[in-house]
Amino acid sequence: MSNGDFRDQRIIVTGASSGIGAALARGFAAAGGHVALVARRRERLAVLASELSGGPGKGVVVEADLTEADSAGRVVAEAEAGLGGRIDVLVNNAGIGDYGAFPGTSLADIERMMTLNMNAVVRLTHAVLPGMIQRRRGHILSIASTAAFQPTPHMAVYGATKAFVLSFSMGIWAEVRKKGVGVTCVCPGPVETEFFDRGGFESRKGDFSRVAMSPERVAAEAIWALRGRRTVYVPGWKNKVGAVMQRFAPMRTVTRITGKVLGPK
Ligand SMILES: NC(=O)c1ccc[n+]([C@@H]2O[C@H](COP(=O)([O-])OP(=O)(O)OC[C@H]3O[C@@H](n4cnc5c(N)ncnc54)[C@H](OP(=O)(O)O)[C@@H]3O)[C@@H](O)[C@H]2O)c1
Repeated sequence: MSNGDFRDQRIIVTGASSGIGAALARGFAAAGGHVALVARRRERLAVLASELSGGPGKGVVVEADLTEADSAGRVVAEAEAGLGGRIDVLVNNAGIGDYGAFPGTSLADIERMMTLNMNAVVRLTHAVLPGMIQRRRGHILSIASTAAFQPTPHMAVYGATKAFVLSFSMGIWAEVRKKGVGVTCVCPGPVETEFFDRGGFESRKGDFSRVAMSPERVAAEAIWALRGRRTVYVPGWKNKVGAVMQRFAPMRTVTRITGKVLGPK
């Protein structure tokens, strides 16, 4: 495929102010896409939008806290107004983690994570999908995690939110696959981003960083998976092997091993 195969497509990328989202926005814009950059940190989005303005695609800033119940409809409306038409690609990337033994974690923090990682994905998808089906054109790309494939002790709720994203993606894929709309769920392992700077991960940041992929690599593979209309895609061969291996052992065994890997050192 040519580098320009997103030319003039209108794309929403949530969580575009850092990490995988910023890399995805750069990747789509380099291929000619026009990208609505969504996150809370407006100044970062503005810097990225001005960077993109020198290339084949453009970026428009849509400041939003996606945990707010009415944000999804407003984000889509502002994105369509800023980009001048209906959305062709929705990228559900914004997400946060929460590390630590479940009984000691803050319920408020966990519920904010659940709202962002799950509700915002559902609300945004619900806002754009009917139009995509009507036009028989469009794609939903959601970023889950390898945490979606098995329970994740010490990140129990985070893993469950990502299992939700994977299950939801597969469910709607089967509904829309003959209606001209694609659905891709990308499940990265550790990625070198600001993700580990918050959510209680700070003590384990070094361990995750040692095996982390770059956000640019993950974004490039995610765009490749979308172009190929892959349904579920795991970047990196070690992550692919891990995702397959866990299928061959009982869930309790897999969960105990995962708990040893993820537990405090
Ligand atoms: N890093 C990893 O190891 C890894 C592995 C597997 C999957 N993932 C997934 O990849 C996705 C991207 O994470 P990342 O690694 O790139 O982390 P990141 O660098 O921390 O980026 C997270 C993005 O989400 C946005 N965000 C956070 N809270 C938000 C809110 N309430 N409303 C709107 N936007 C919000 C942040 O922007 P603002 O703070 O400006 O709002 C930021 O742009 C997440 O879904 C994560 O679960 C990450």
